This record gives sequence, structure tokens and C-alpha cells, in this order.
Amino acid sequence: MPRVFSGIQPTGELHLGNLLGAVRNWVEDQHRSDSFYCVVDLHALTVPSEPGSLGRQTMDLAAALLACGLDPEACTLFVQSHVPEHSSLGWLMQCTASFGELRRMTQFKDKSQGQESVSAGLFTYPTLQAADILLYDTDQVPVGEDQRQHIELTRDLAERFNARFGETFVVPSATIPRDGARVMDLQQPDRKMSKSSSTDAGIVFLDDDPAVIVRKFKRAVTDSLGEVHHDPEGQPGVSNLLSILAAATGRAAEDVAGDYRQYGPLKADTGEAVVELLRPIQERLRDLRGDPGTVEAALRTGAGKASSVAAGVLDRAERNIGLLPRT
Ligand code: AMP
Ligand code: TRP
Repeated sequence: MPRVFSGIQPTGELHLGNLLGAVRNWVEDQHRSDSFYCVVDLHALTVPSEPGSLGRQTMDLAAALLACGLDPEACTLFVQSHVPEHSSLGWLMQCTASFGELRRMTQFKDKSQGQESVSAGLFTYPTLQAADILLYDTDQVPVGEDQRQHIELTRDLAERFNARFGETFVVPSATIPRDGARVMDLQQPDRKMSKSSSTDAGIVFLDDDPAVIVRKFKRAVTDSLGEVHHDPEGQPGVSNLLSILAAATGRAAEDVAGDYRQYGPLKADTGEAVVELLRPIQERLRDLRGDPGTVEAALRTGAGKASSVAAGVLDRAERNIGLLPRT
């Protein structure tokens, strides 16, 4: 079975982009691969947050992932900081990456732009991400399009390390979904849906009320062409709706486009399809929020399973790079 690894930051509520771009594929992968899913709380420390809020957000995200269908019996769900090997291998990766290649990372450019103070951790973020992936001898990394560059860097670092110090890491590949890989903001369809957007009107959160979801789609920004084509360049708003409807109903966006002539019905049907997609998830989330013991137990089991794999790979990397073995 292929080994799968992916991660998500506990920096805000899960939204439709996370679900369609990543988490939905994790739920499918858990049954046909040996999968590890990690709430990357150390990555969340790279940007400022309210002191004391991180633990709560980590728990809430873990509950949301379980609600989306991750099954602790079928996959390994754990919190990054519970497995200290991530930080140890992260340092080895910092010493493998060059300043120049990290400076080219677009996520760093986006997140640091206009900030008064930028942490050193935000700059070295992709090296910790590489450590996350390489620690599990990962074959496949299911992510949205925005992570492609980080996975490419991970591959480069693995190959460089292997060439310098001998065969150590499996070189992983990104798996990016056809529809949903890049869900755009409903109000600014030229920007990806992201928890850092300035207003909530363009973001569909996993636990938005059905009426709120329908309203957000009704008010989605489109264009004045009056035609329905899947053309992300020429008609970004309409194409985003088509992609979301396609991803929510398991069809192809080009195919869905043929069913519509007007924007009103497209918006209404997309809103309804998303409400239906989220309904069972919202019900499970309500239950899990009232039952933190179940979430904690899942994370404890996950950390145990993750540690046993991570310790072996870290030991291999430390020996190959020439650190004195602990015996
Ligand atoms: P993040 O919330 O940045 O930690 O992202 C978690 C996962 O969701 C990653 O695999 C991202 O690629 C994916 N993702 C985030 N935003 C979007 C989006 N707007 N469309 C598709 N995938 C996304
Ligand atoms: N950088 C990823 C994001 O912003 C989160 C992440 C951290 C990740 N480590 C990972 C994703 C390892 C895949 C694999 O979405």
C-alpha cells in the first residue's frame, strides 16, 4: 500500500477550499493507502496568534477532520508537536535547503508581504514541511494546487540529501485533485478562498448555517457576459461556481456548464449542493464538539503510531548525515 501524508494548519476554521482541495481526498485515501494526517501546530506558530488560542484551535480542527470522515481506525491522525522528531528532522532540512531557494517560495512572499515583522520560522516553514513528509517514507502528498511548490522543494531536498549522504529518504509526489484543487473566493474570484481573506462573505466555512451558505452563493460575484462556460481565465466567478458544483456532485465542470444558461439557477444549485455536502459533516461536528474525550483519545493513539514510524526514519537520517548515534 502506498504511504500517504498530508498536513493542515490549525489557524482558523476549515472552509470549503480545504474540504474540496484536500480533506475529501484524505478521506478517500485512508481506505486504499497507509495514511498519516497531521494537524501542523508548529507551522501555525510562524504567524502571530492570540496567546493561548492554539490548543483550542488544534482540538477544533481535529474534531472537524473526524467529522469530515477521517477514521482513526483507518488512518493515523495526530498533532505535529506530539511527535518531536518533526522538529529534529526540520533542523536537518534547514541545513539542506539554501537561502536562495527558500526566498523563491511564493507562499512566503505572499504571507510576508506588507507585514511589519516576519518570523524566521515563516521563512524556513517549507523545510519543516519537508521534514513532516520525509519522516514517514511518504509516496504521495494529497494537497491543493497552492502547495505544489513546497512539494517540489521537498523532492529536491530529499534527492540532495540522498545524493550527499546515501539513500535515506523516499522521494514523494504531490497528488492534486482535478476539480476543487483551487476553490476561489466567492467575492473575489481571482483570489483563492482562504481564511486570511478580509471578509467572510466570500468564504464558506464548514459550520456555516445552511441559510448563510445559500446567501453567500446567491451573492457570489460573477460577470456581465450572461453565458455559462467553464473558462477560469475569462469567467473566473462563473467557473468557480461550476468547479464547486462539479466537485460537490462528482461530475466534470465542463459537463455541468452544459446544464445552465443563467447565473441565478447556477448559484442556487451550487448553494444547495454545498448545503447537502456539508449537512452530515455538520451533524457529526456538533456531536464531537460535545465529546472532547473521543477527539483526545484519537489524537493520543495517532501520536503513538506516528512516533514509531518517525523515530526509525529520523535515526536513519541522523546516522547517514554523520551524527554520533545515541546507541
Ligand atoms: P491550509 O489551510 O493552508 O493549511 O491548507 C490545508 C490544505 O487545504 C492544503 O492542502 C491546501 O492546498 C488546501 N487548500 C487551502 N485553500 C484551498 C483552496 N482555496 N482551494 C483548494 N485547496 C485549498
Ligand atoms: N503548508 C501546508 C499548507 O499551508 C500545510 C502543511 C504542513 C503540509 N506540512 C505539510 C501539507 C505536509 C502537506 C504535507 O496548507
